[in-house]
Amino acid sequence: MTTSPRNLSDRDRVLEATDLVALVGEHVALKPRGREHLGLCPFHDDRTPSMAVVTHKGNAFYKCFSCGAAGNAIDFVMNFHKMDFIEALKHLAGRVGMELQGSRDQGPRDPATSREALRKAMDAANRFYRKCLADERLGEPARRHIAGRELPAEAVEAFQLGASPDGWDHLVKHVDRLVSHAATGGDRMHRESFEALGLVRPGQRGPIDGFRGRLMFPIHDELGHTIAFGARALKEGDEPKYLNSPESPLFSKSRTLYALHQARRAIIESKHAIVVEGYIDALALHAHGITNVVATLGTSLTKDHARTLQRMAERITLVFDPDAAGEKAADRAVETFLAVPIDVRIAKLPDGLDADELLVREGGRAAFDAAIESGEDALAWMVRRFRADLRDAASMSGRQQRLQALLQKLGELGFRSIDPLRRRFVLNALSEMVQVPVDTLLASVPGPRPVAAAVGTAPVSQETAAPAEPAGPRHRARHMAERNFLAMVLALEDRQGARVSLEDTGPLPLAEAFGESHFDHPDHRTLWTLLAARLESGKSFHVQDVVADTDLPTIKLLAGELWETGSRRLVSADAMQSLQSAATDLDRQLRHGAEQPPPRGKALDQTTLVALVERRRREGHRPGAIARAVRSDARNATAGLPSADNH
Ligand code: UTP
Ligand code: MN
Repeated sequence: MTTSPRNLSDRDRVLEATDLVALVGEHVALKPRGREHLGLCPFHDDRTPSMAVVTHKGNAFYKCFSCGAAGNAIDFVMNFHKMDFIEALKHLAGRVGMELQGSRDQGPRDPATSREALRKAMDAANRFYRKCLADERLGEPARRHIAGRELPAEAVEAFQLGASPDGWDHLVKHVDRLVSHAATGGDRMHRESFEALGLVRPGQRGPIDGFRGRLMFPIHDELGHTIAFGARALKEGDEPKYLNSPESPLFSKSRTLYALHQARRAIIESKHAIVVEGYIDALALHAHGITNVVATLGTSLTKDHARTLQRMAERITLVFDPDAAGEKAADRAVETFLAVPIDVRIAKLPDGLDADELLVREGGRAAFDAAIESGEDALAWMVRRFRADLRDAASMSGRQQRLQALLQKLGELGFRSIDPLRRRFVLNALSEMVQVPVDTLLASVPGPRPVAAAVGTAPVSQETAAPAEPAGPRHRARHMAERNFLAMVLALEDRQGARVSLEDTGPLPLAEAFGESHFDHPDHRTLWTLLAARLESGKSFHVQDVVADTDLPTIKLLAGELWETGSRRLVSADAMQSLQSAATDLDRQLRHGAEQPPPRGKALDQTTLVALVERRRREGHRPGAIARAVRSDARNATAGLPSADNH
């Protein structure tokens, strides 16, 4: 990217006038955290919010600590919307109503197929179809269809519906006029641009219209640019019923969601996205005030769709037809979302109706809302579908085969790395269904061992062969306290300056407050060792540094997860207070929890500890007594150290 000198001031003015948090916030749900805002990074497959938007005076930037994406507002627009520099500059200037000084006289570089030329052609076609819809004769069939579907005029206007006239060359002639008019001054236009977009195509006797006699639904990108059309047949027997624009530099079907431009704000605000299957359904829902709705474009949901929605919403409800095709589509969608950590539900509308049909009925709105509210969890859906599948299997070997196929598929879909609670839900249900132990089932799922199992969010010991977490509520409470404290330390900005007071101490720097042996869970202990080393260095650091300090995926994952948990909590709470209360909790757990901790201060090293245990064992103590005795040994052994407690 080169910046010509005359654009420099444009660039600076645009950057100064742009509110980066607002800009990014239009596409990513952002949460304030201290002086930063955090959200899911849109530039990689992000699971935890790893993108920070930082706005210090005159220097606003975004940075993803996970994939490294970073830059200013112009970089964001260029990368997010795949624009070049000039396009991004113009877009940002347009947003804030600013006139650019340098670029007014710049024509497109590659005349016919530059994105700018393609956009111009798209816009021209959009204007043309809309004019045709208003035309008494040409627009009549489309208007009749609209009236028959009871689509309100405002929605038709807001969604810019149009009509492609019934005939071979209405648009072709219009393009000819545009091209020759533009040649004699005005904006340059090219027939090739329309061809590249499938709006005009070669016929046997010259070029013909790509869309003929159809109701036109312009498809917009997230910024509201028209990038394609969906076109519904108006004549009986005209196949296919819906025809879409071909893929082009502006349009990728598998990435685009219909009405996302109009739905974006409502989705981010409600944290909930509703996905329907038809253009008209989406449009009708918006017209009835349900605006967090998008539609797919005649494909099933893709990973890209999932990613786009996940970055804005915490919950997604997929609405499917209640017929067999709808069930199949739901199956595919559930698979697509399996490994995406987001609340996905499947909703079916009553009486086998499409959303647009339901809404125009009496009580339709309430029925729609009720259907959405009673959406079935995606995993529950999957389990139920499998139950039905099993019932269909006549023989034992048939059932066996189906189970094998399911386990195989789950493995391919990343089942082993999904959230332990979700995994457990599926395994328990399957186990009950087929009368096979959970462990055996999981062992048949191909893929890497679940790392999350060792994280200790839930008692998952029975389900995996991973190191079992000691069961029992006391351990759980202690592990929870450990997690909370680690989360606070990870999320805190000013860790080096932080002090915590424990029951019997004055304010201590974090590294001195706890020793590694105060952490019972092996993963927590390892993480604390890394953190303590960083803390002792005295230099400030970010969670990414801690992640880089270890090769252990479990620990990397744990650090990210706890950082996220901590960051979330700090959004609504005072940082130092939260840290202190997490420290107090852990301290209490250590003192009054299941077991007495070793004395605070420098922890005993592992060798010494083992030696003490060995000695007591040789003396013939039983396990409980050994623990007590060793603790007292340890106290004595460390009594002379400066920071040890003094009883
Ligand atoms: P449906 O066939 O379910 O139609 O297609 P619909 O939405 O109920 O259409 P109306 O109500 O009769 O107008 C659902 C979606 O599948 C895509 C379109 O995106 C459509 O909105 N589709 C359908 C195609 O892409 N091509 C087709 O031939 C049919
Ligand atoms: Mn329909």
